[in-house]
Order: sequence, then structure tokens, then C-alpha cells
Amino acid sequence: MLLVTGGAGFIGANFVLDWVAQSDEAIINLDALTYAGNRENLASLEGNEQHNFVHGDIADTALVSALLAQHQPRAIINFAAESHVDRSIHGPEDFIQTNIVGTFKLLEATRAYWGSLKGDAKRNFRFLHVSTDEVYGSLSKDEPAFTETHQYQPNSPYSASKAASDHLVRAYHHTYGMPVLTTNCSNNYGPYHFPEKLIPLMIVNALAGKALPVYGDGQQIRDWLYVKDHCSAIRRVLAAGTVGEVYNVGGWNEKPNLEIVHTVCCILDELRGRADGKSYAEQISYVTDRPGHDRRYAIDASKLERELGWKPAETFETGIRKTVLWYLENQAWVANVLSGNYRDWVAKNYAERQA
Ligand code: NAD
Ligand code: DAU
Repeated sequence: MLLVTGGAGFIGANFVLDWVAQSDEAIINLDALTYAGNRENLASLEGNEQHNFVHGDIADTALVSALLAQHQPRAIINFAAESHVDRSIHGPEDFIQTNIVGTFKLLEATRAYWGSLKGDAKRNFRFLHVSTDEVYGSLSKDEPAFTETHQYQPNSPYSASKAASDHLVRAYHHTYGMPVLTTNCSNNYGPYHFPEKLIPLMIVNALAGKALPVYGDGQQIRDWLYVKDHCSAIRRVLAAGTVGEVYNVGGWNEKPNLEIVHTVCCILDELRGRADGKSYAEQISYVTDRPGHDRRYAIDASKLERELGWKPAETFETGIRKTVLWYLENQAWVANVLSGNYRDWVAKNYAERQA
């Protein structure tokens, strides 16, 4: 039995769906269903006894302790977080609450549970914390990619809150000997990605005939990984990672934002061309930059490849095509997401960016 937190969000839902497809082991999925959590991501698991959804908060110690006592999981995988940098700039408090306080409470409940285990159950237990490359800060153009020993220099309230959670996880190993693993991954993309993030926002806005808002000069670089490759890396680290170690996860796919937007437009031009025959690239609009915007992220994933034999299955070209196709084929999912409080966020974030 696994306890997964945040499994109704983008990466967590992909992880749960892949796990159930590949393993017989059951999952308890604890998710607070914030704006980013969506039961519809898990609709295909309705009635499947291998997946148990629990609506709740990682900071609810009584609930988490009861779940641990009842289900006796062999591992916890912590995806739950507030994850959007722009939202953390508008309002950091939820990020402090879930990413720092929530992770702390989860660690405390886990420490009590792990302490109660005996023999192999205790030895084999794992707490896997899912984190981000943003904790390492920003790279200049020629600096080498982040390794696991790169100094922490988080620049946004989001990345600072994730950095704090990483430090807590590390401390629970160092101080209490808790068997933790941490993964720091680069930018994910793929199915079920909430359209507040760059790639799904561009697909959704393009199809709706709306502006494609590029922050600043669009030359900021991110390192992209198809979400299912992130999930396979997490499975690999859970199965074979050395306790207390950190593993960077990335796809060696550094690209400037503007190139990403053009690639999305090109694929859409080919698969669902505009009625007027023009390219979706005509909709690109440069808007005011993100405050404190990190210029470049790049992940050196060689430790994970060398020590655990992990490699991504998708190239950026295959992954982005699959992603655009998924959005074209799942317009009902998109429509449902857009009908919620999503609109309030878009109005708030982009109103003040118009140059
Ligand atoms: P997401 O925002 O899509 O999903 C987060 C999920 O956590 C949602 O289902 C939400 O309801 C749930 N949640 C939020 N607060 C909670 C709480 N207090 N208790 C229980 N559940 C709660 O995020 P994502 O993009 O899927 O990211 C998942 C994890 O991976 C995060 O920890 C994030 O920092 C990390 N990460 C994301 C990326 C990326 O590119 N998206 C890359 C590297 C690491
Ligand atoms: O690097 C991993 C991180 O990637 C994760 O930890 C975060 O949870 C995840 O949200 C993501 O953070 P980014 O800030 O890199 O992702 P986002 O999709 O918000 O933005 C990607 C880049 O695109 C960034 O340079 C900002 C830019 N951008 C974004 C939006 C939403 C735009 O130019 N226009 C936009 O409208």
C-alpha cells in the first residue's frame, strides 16, 4: 500500500494513473482538492478498488495519523503543494501553509507511524518528497546545469517554500534517521496540466483565439520533461534510491519560452489550423515580465541515470506532440477546468501585465 498526497493534481494524477496501470499495489490518495486538484483527472479509476481517494489536508494530523494506522502504507509519496510561481507572488501565504507547515505536519505524523513499525516494515519504509529544480535558483547562460550539490538559492515565495520543505525532509533523516528520498525535477508538461502554466495556457488560449502572453522577452530558459518520465523516475527512486539521497530529474531539454510557444503554434497549425489560414503565432503578445523572474533552469540528471539506470522515454518532440494531441482530444476536460474559478485567476494575473 502506498499513501500518495496531492494525487488529484497534474503530476500526482499522472503518477496514480500510471501506478494503477502497472502495479497491483493499492494507493490511498490524500488530496485537499484546492483549485488545482481535480477528481476528473482520476475519473477512469471510479469504482477501482486499487485506488482509494480521501479528501483532506496533509496538515490534518489526526486524519493523516488515522490513515497511516489503518492502511499501514510501506511508503508515502508527497506531491501535495501549492505549485504556481505567479500565484505565490500574488499571495504567498497558502504556499507557506501547505508547502512548509503541511510538509512539517506530514513528516511529524510519519515519524510517529514509522517509529511504531517493526522489523522489515520499518527498514523498508520510505518517505519520498517530490520537489523542484527551482530551489537551486537561476543560472546564467553558460553556467553548468544544477547538480544535487548546487547551493540552494530560491528566488520566489514558491521556490523558497519548497526549499524549506526540502530542508525539513533532509533534517528528519539526519536527526531521526527517517528513511527519506527527495527528487528535484525540472518543468513538467503533459496530460492534465492545469492551464495556468505555460504550455497548457498557450494551447488553450490559441484554440480560443486569445492572446498568447509571453512574459518579458521570452528568452527565459526552462528544462522540459514529459510528466510520465517524471513518474517513471519517481517509481525508480522509490524502488532503488539510497535513503537520505537527493536525485535530480530532468530531460536534458533546455528551451527558451518563445521557442516553446512557437513549437506549440506550429503543431496546432498542422493539426487544427486556424480558419483564416494564418498561424497561431500571430496571437503572440509580449506582456510585463514576472517579478524576480528566474532566467534559466537546467538539470543535470546524470546521478539518476548513472546510479539507478533511469532515462526518459520521450524526447521533447514526441512529448509535446502527444501533449497537444491530448488537449485537442480532451476538450471536455478543458471546458470543465475553464468553467471554475480559473477565470478569476486569469483576469487577475493578466490584467496588470498588459504593456
Ligand atoms: P498541482 O498544483 O497541479 O497539484 C497539487 C495538488 O496538491 C492538487 O491536487 C491540490 O489539490 C493538492 N494539495 C494542495 N494543497 C494540499 C494540502 N494542503 N493537502 C493535500 N493536498 C493538497 O501541482 P503539480 O504540478 O502536480 O506538482 C506536484 C508536485 O511536484 C509539487 O510538490 C511541485 O512542487 C512538484 N513539482 C512540479 C513540477 C511541475 O513542473 N509542475 C516540477 C517539479 C516539481
Ligand atoms: O521548474 C519546475 C517548476 O516549473 C515547478 O516547480 C513549478 O511547480 C511549475 O509551475 C514550473 O514553474 P515555472 O514558473 O517555470 O512554470 P510556468 O509554466 O508558470 O512558466 C514557465 C515559463 O513561462 C516561465 O519562464 C514563465 C513563462 N510564462 C508563464 C506563463 C504562465 C510566460 O511567459 N507566460 C505565461 O503566461
